[in-house]
Amino acid sequence: MRYITIALAKGRLAFNSLEILEKIGISCEEIKDKTSRKLIFINEELKLKFFLAKATDVPTYVEYGAADIGIVGKDTILEEGRKMFEVVDLGLGKCRICVAGPASAKELLQHGELIRVATKYPNIAKDYFYNKKHQTVEIIKLNGSIELAPIVGLSEVIVDIVETGSTLRENGLEVLEEICNISARMVVNEVSMKMEHERITKIIKDLKEAVLQK
Ligand code: PRP
Repeated sequence: MRYITIALAKGRLAFNSLEILEKIGISCEEIKDKTSRKLIFINEELKLKFFLAKATDVPTYVEYGAADIGIVGKDTILEEGRKMFEVVDLGLGKCRICVAGPASAKELLQHGELIRVATKYPNIAKDYFYNKKHQTVEIIKLNGSIELAPIVGLSEVIVDIVETGSTLRENGLEVLEEICNISARMVVNEVSMKMEHERITKIIKDLKEAVLQK
């Protein structure tokens, strides 16, 4: 039997994903050691390999088949636009992708003005403004602390993740428009789905049941 490889998005999501996997009998004790710098972990009994990757790279590993399965946020899936099957909504890390900014920017959105949009998600922002709103905007790619952009005058609005809303509130910003809801998803390589059909569909079925029982 060959190994099935599972790519997990490094960080909190990896630990939450492992908790759900444990519920369906898939465990990997070694991976939980936060002091370890190891990247690959093996469960010899189940013939499973796990690795931790940067979230934005998980879809890349899965599309190329370097991982058969991945667990990653829907935001990353949408942004990366990779070819793969999205099979289970794990209901973890629920939040929204929103257009946010100072209340005064609401008007700019309503009148379809040429505005600057700062974001970690240029593809999601482009799709929203160009294809859904038909508004021409200038997208400015940032890598973190996106809320800074409208405060220091880099952009009029941002497209970012809102979970509790406290980062916006504490910086005098608010949600202006909602783009979509997101949560963690299990994704599968298209070839692996055929080659390892039995083992992978069993994991999908068990995971769906575990999610329902949550
Ligand atoms: C995310 C996101 C917001 C914040 C939203 O940032 O980009 O800044 O969390 O959460 P809240 O609505 O609960 O306040 P993250 O912590 O991932 O860091 P980043 O600034 O590096 O993107």
